Formats: sequence, C-alpha cells, structure tokens
Amino acid sequence: MVCLSAKALLLAAGCLPQLVHSAGLDTSAVALGKLYFGTATDNPELTDTAYVTQLNNTDDFGQITPGNSQKWDATEPSQNTFTFTNGDVIADLAEANGQKLRCHNLVWYNQLPSWVSSGTWTNATLLAAMKNHITNVVTHYKGQCYAWDVVNEGLADDGTYRDNIFYQYIGEAYIPIAFATAAAADPDVKLYYNDYNIEYAGAKSTAAQNIVKLIKSYGAKIDGVGLQGHFIVGSTPSQSSQASNMAAFAALGVEVAITELDIRMTLPSTDALLAQQKTDYAGTVAACAQTSACVGVTIWDWTDKYSWVPSTFSGQGAACPWDENLVKKPAYTGILTALGGTATSTSTASGSSTTTSTSTSTGSSSVAQQYGQCGGSGWTGATTCVSGTTCTYFNDWYSQCL
Ligand SMILES: *[C@@H]1O[C@H](CO)[C@@H](O)[C@H](O)[C@H]1NC(C)=O
Ligand SMILES: *[C@@H]1O[C@H](CO)[C@@H](O)[C@H](O)[C@H]1NC(C)=O
Repeated sequence: MVCLSAKALLLAAGCLPQLVHSAGLDTSAVALGKLYFGTATDNPELTDTAYVTQLNNTDDFGQITPGNSQKWDATEPSQNTFTFTNGDVIADLAEANGQKLRCHNLVWYNQLPSWVSSGTWTNATLLAAMKNHITNVVTHYKGQCYAWDVVNEGLADDGTYRDNIFYQYIGEAYIPIAFATAAAADPDVKLYYNDYNIEYAGAKSTAAQNIVKLIKSYGAKIDGVGLQGHFIVGSTPSQSSQASNMAAFAALGVEVAITELDIRMTLPSTDALLAQQKTDYAGTVAACAQTSACVGVTIWDWTDKYSWVPSTFSGQGAACPWDENLVKKPAYTGILTALGGTATSTSTASGSSTTTSTSTSTGSSSVAQQYGQCGGSGWTGATTCVSGTTCTYFNDWYSQCL
C-alpha cells in the first residue's frame, strides 16, 4: 500500500490532488452502466475540511446518503412539528456537488421520538401519525431524492415480521400503506424496502421478497430493495450467492442496490485482514457489477474515522475502504477493480509513490484484472484476463475475470 509512511495531513494534501482527474469509484461504476457509487455521511463530520474535501470528490462519490438527519427523531421530534435543518444541509451539499441523494428513512423501529415509541395508540391514530410523517417528509424533499428507504428493517432475523410498534397496532398493512403514502407524496421518487441479512438466500431474504409481493398485492408501488451489506471480514457472503440473491429480487420486477456496505474486522487490523477485506469488498461490489438490476453501491461512510462500527460492535472496526487518517486501504483498489477500473503505481516528483487510477473502459489496458470486466455488448476494453483468472460470461452485457 502506498502513502503509508507520511503523516496524515501530508497524505491528505499530497495524495488526494493526484486523484482529482483520475477514474474513481463513481466514474468506474457509471462506465459500467451503474447509476452511482456513493457513501453515507452525517452532519457532525461536515466540520472536518479534509473529510469534506474527499466527500466532495465526485470521481469517487456520485451519491450521498444522510446517516441520521432524515430519520423520524430528527425530522419530527414532536408530533406534527417538522425540522429539516440538518437533513437539508446534506441534501443541499448533494445538489451543489451534482451528487444523487438516497433519502433514509421514513418508517423504522429505531430512532423514533418518544411520542411515537411511548405513545398511546390505536390502529387508526398510529396510521394517521405515520401517514402524516411520510407525507410531510417526502413532500419536503420532493425532487431532491433519487430514492427513499420507505420501510427500514421490518423483519426479524428468522424472517417473521419485526414486532415493532407499527406492526403491533396496524399489522403487516403498515408496510404497503407506507409505500402508497410515499408514492402519493412524490410519484417520481424510487421507493425501497431496506434491510440487512437479506444479501444472500435464506428465510429473511425470502421474507423480504414476500414483502415486495405484499406491497404489490395492495396495489401499491415498490421500485427497489436495499441490501444493506454490513459484513464481517472473512465471512462475507460469496459473490455468486449475492448475485443469485439479487437475481431473485430482480425476478419480482424491482431493482436492487447495496445501500450500507461496510466490512468490519476484529481489531487490531493486520495486513492479512486488510487483504481479506479487499477480497470481500471486491466480491460484493462485483456481485452488483454483474447484475443489471443492481443500480449502485453505497458504503456506510468511507473512512474508519467516522464509522459507526466501533461504538456498536465492541472490539471491532476498520470496516471502511479508507482508514482513520483518510488514507486508502487495499479495499479501495478491490472495489475499483471490481468496477472495471485498474490501479497503477506512479512516482511523484518527491519520489514517494502514490496511486492513480485509470479505467479499462478506455481500452488503454490490454489485460483485465481479477473482477474486472472483460466483455459484453459495447465493451471496448480488455478482453484478456490477468493470469490465474478466466473471462466468465454473465449476460450479453457483462463478462468478468474470475
Ligand atoms: C464541498 O462542496 C460544497 C458544495 O459544492 C462547497 O460549498 C464546499 O466548499 C466544498 N468543501 C470542501 C472542503 O471542498
Ligand atoms: C388497521 O387498519 C388498516 C386500514 O384500515 C387495515 O388495513 C389493517 O388491517 C388494520 N390492522 C388491524 C390489525 O386491524
């Protein structure tokens, strides 16, 4: 890995400008036909200038997602009193940068204000409060969001409905009613169901597929399913299992996206763990790359400096593609390569090595790297795979070196 010997601030100053005109994660994803590669962010981090400089780097991030500031406790802290100040900061940043915005989220059991979670409800009164929340928030952000996560984490791990307050008073009908309410407030925004442990076949993924069918059975609209992707180094589901699971959703007529990708490890991080993390990131991103219904990938913040992992999973961390000093880890190259870009080493005037990246879609490279694209309709890049890998056909638009 390059740029590890200098101090963090010098790295940020010395390395990042090298990348400004290079193919990055988003430009490579778009060259593959995806809509975006993006990252979550959050309001407190926006005071960190070095952090925002890279967040603003649209070669890497064509989309951002507010981590917290559009959630129910942030937007409607007391009943029918709405505050959009923090959410607007991130929506406005996306707009100023020309980045897409994934809006997150409308109905979730967690981060509810106490007037909801501890309220006295009937089916009818909770339904009215839920509809009022959705209508106001979706209307406020109308035209600014690519997609809304309408219902988040509505399932327990065994595939039964999560026994949240909405389910208790309204029953499963809260899910299709939430989608219908969001569609009425903004007919153009993509409406997603978003959850974790639905990235591979199993009871929970099957249950999420049943949610798609349930929503449609009510005559309501669902456009997509968000596969969160909070994974663990060394036990990340395989590329093929993720791709076949995506295909199962696509067969129901919805798009998919990887919405919250991070791959944590037990600390301290080692070279071996970082190498495995690179493989795990590459396989996951490659599953989206090979699946035409997968529109994009969002990492759940790009730097370990602001990852939610250490405070949530004791003893674990280092889950993001950039380290806590905002330096790229091997995972970055794994993602870039899975998106058909290649990383090459060059020397700077000072003699220290840095990383620049080019996209094989320019046709400038004669050998495609592992996980790189090697064929497909319209493909003008390399069709020969690096030694040890084979060009594998997925569909008429995409073949990949595996
Ligand atoms: C980030 O982008 C925003 C909007 O384009 C701009 O106002 C801000 O100055 C940028 N910040 C940095 C640190 O580049
Ligand atoms: C709550 O009301 C809605 C709307 O009338 C209905 O669809 C749903 O079945 C009701 N839930 C229960 C548990 O009665």
